[in-house]
Amino acid sequence: MKFILRAAVFHFLFLYAVHVLAIEIESVPKFNDERVIQAELNKPVSLVCTLDATQADEELVWLRNDAAVLLKEGNNKGRSSLCVTPIYEDNGAKFTCHQKGNSTDQVSVTLNVIFAPNISGTVEVTVEEEADLVLECDTRANPLVSSVTWSLNGSLVDLLADGFSVINNGLISQLTANKVKKSLHGGMYTCTVDSPMYNDSSRHFQVTITDKTLKFPLGPMIAGLVVVGLTALLAAVSRWRKIVKCCK
Ligand SMILES: *[C@@H]1O[C@H](CO)[C@@H](O)[C@H](O)[C@H]1NC(C)=O
Ligand SMILES: *[C@@H]1O[C@H](CO)[C@@H](O)[C@H](O)[C@H]1NC(C)=O
Ligand SMILES: *[C@@H]1O[C@H](CO)[C@@H](O)[C@H](O)[C@H]1NC(C)=O
Ligand SMILES: *[C@@H]1O[C@H](CO)[C@@H](O)[C@H](O)[C@H]1NC(C)=O
Repeated sequence: MKFILRAAVFHFLFLYAVHVLAIEIESVPKFNDERVIQAELNKPVSLVCTLDATQADEELVWLRNDAAVLLKEGNNKGRSSLCVTPIYEDNGAKFTCHQKGNSTDQVSVTLNVIFAPNISGTVEVTVEEEADLVLECDTRANPLVSSVTWSLNGSLVDLLADGFSVINNGLISQLTANKVKKSLHGGMYTCTVDSPMYNDSSRHFQVTITDKTLKFPLGPMIAGLVVVGLTALLAAVSRWRKIVKCCK
């Protein structure tokens, strides 16, 4: 009995395997058992979809997340290749291939685009006293970063004191300080991301707080200048008319 069952299961798997082989994708780099390709940012991935020899005249279509991919002429008869150079947005994208007008048999692979957090360097920031300070770090990474921390002159920023707040949304980390004061908010800020796969990385912000500049009421001043200018012009024009008149 056990043997029969095993034979049946084997037979079923065999049939299933033969059936699936009518259309298949090959990729470089290769996909794993879950049909996921470990891809790297900006490193090309090659996908080739092939129908078995008996259907070599049939046309193929490719979909990227259910949207058709435009193929060059000739790149669809029985065999079709795609070259994908992954960007951030291709992470998780699913590429599906099937016969044109018949999606009964379809095969897919999914991209897992690995990329390190892209933060480094030092940025100079100048902000006036009493204005708001906003600093941002790009925290996108795959695998996701495990933590983001902000420090000022080497000590963790105290979010409860000194009017700081932080927003993390998986894309950016944003540190804000409202109505900055020279004594509290000037100095070297650092945002540091910890990654489970890559080395920690940081970006520095050299923040200088300048004295508040007195804002002149520019509007009325400009209006005044315009009036003065116009009057002078009108005077010149009427004077010129007189000059022209006496020359006649
Ligand atoms: C669609 O493709 C499957 C598998 O190749 C095939 O068995 C079926 O007959 C096809 N259907 C049509 C309408 O061509
Ligand atoms: C990394 O960030 C810099 C600017 O901060 C940008 O020019 C560059 O394109 C980014 N790299 C990637 C892969 O997004
Ligand atoms: C950070 O260090 C700079 C330079 O030593 C100093 O001028 C600034 O006051 C310090 N900031 C804070 C908040 O202690
Ligand atoms: C991490 O840093 C070490 C030493 O600085 C370096 O040798 C290594 O290549 C870095 N690893 C990655 C993934 O950047």
